[in-house]
Amino acid sequence: MFSFLNKDQATGEVTERQLDEQNIPAHIAIIMDGNGRWAQQRHLPRIAGHKQGMNTVKTVAKAASHLGVKVLTLYAFSTENWKRPSTEVNYLMKLPVDFFGTFVPDLVKNNIRVKVMGYTDQLPAATQKAVRDAIADTADCTGMVLNFALNYGGRAELVTATQRLAAQVQAGQLAPADITADMLGQQLMTGDLAELADPDLLIRTSGEERLSNFMLWQVAYSEFVFMQEHWPDFDQATLEQAIYTYQQRHRRFGGLNPATDTTKN
Ligand code: FPP
Repeated sequence: MFSFLNKDQATGEVTERQLDEQNIPAHIAIIMDGNGRWAQQRHLPRIAGHKQGMNTVKTVAKAASHLGVKVLTLYAFSTENWKRPSTEVNYLMKLPVDFFGTFVPDLVKNNIRVKVMGYTDQLPAATQKAVRDAIADTADCTGMVLNFALNYGGRAELVTATQRLAAQVQAGQLAPADITADMLGQQLMTGDLAELADPDLLIRTSGEERLSNFMLWQVAYSEFVFMQEHWPDFDQATLEQAIYTYQQRHRRFGGLNPATDTTKN
């Protein structure tokens, strides 16, 4: 059991709670929202929020790894984020260079392996190099996978996967009727994560309650936890609070929970 101080989102009341070590979500995905609002509230430029958000990534990656999370997926840049002003896009493209440039030794020390999912070939050359180097430098780490969604979009991912299966059909290697959900899942950018591909817990910060084109296939049975904190204010305690909320849920995957659901009509 891990003890932590839980802050009730509605009342602000703080109470000591226990996390069940046997029920830590294996895969946590986070939509890191609110960097801009965090900066605005402090009369700072939006990029100051992204910089602080990058520091939060360091804190949360280490905290998740210590709690026993196996995959932490972070939505760092979507295929739609190119619509932002070029100064902000350029800054966001520089962040992985700064992040990996300073943090890779810490990742290795914590046995954390970097993975990136997204259309990385469309990123600036320096960003691509930072990503490639981080993946190579952490390739031997066997602990948590830190999976950055970078130039990622859920619909685009599904289109690409469909195109791959269609190519197999066209080549006569596959009959349309033989396509299964597992086959489609394997063609997604999480295919290499095998049984860990689907997040158990999806967190979105900053009070917004939408998916924004994130892991549309993989979150089919994820538990969603929406938190008020802006991403730069997120920390180990907020993560533990989200996991505690997750642990109060009863996952049924479309079936019934034998402990709580009656099978009588
Ligand atoms: C959403 O907040 C956040 C982003 C689009 C960028 C997230 C990126 C980071 C947290 C840094 C990632 C770090 C690495 C290492 C790649 P927003 O800007 O939409 O906030 P707002 O809704 O308040 O404007």
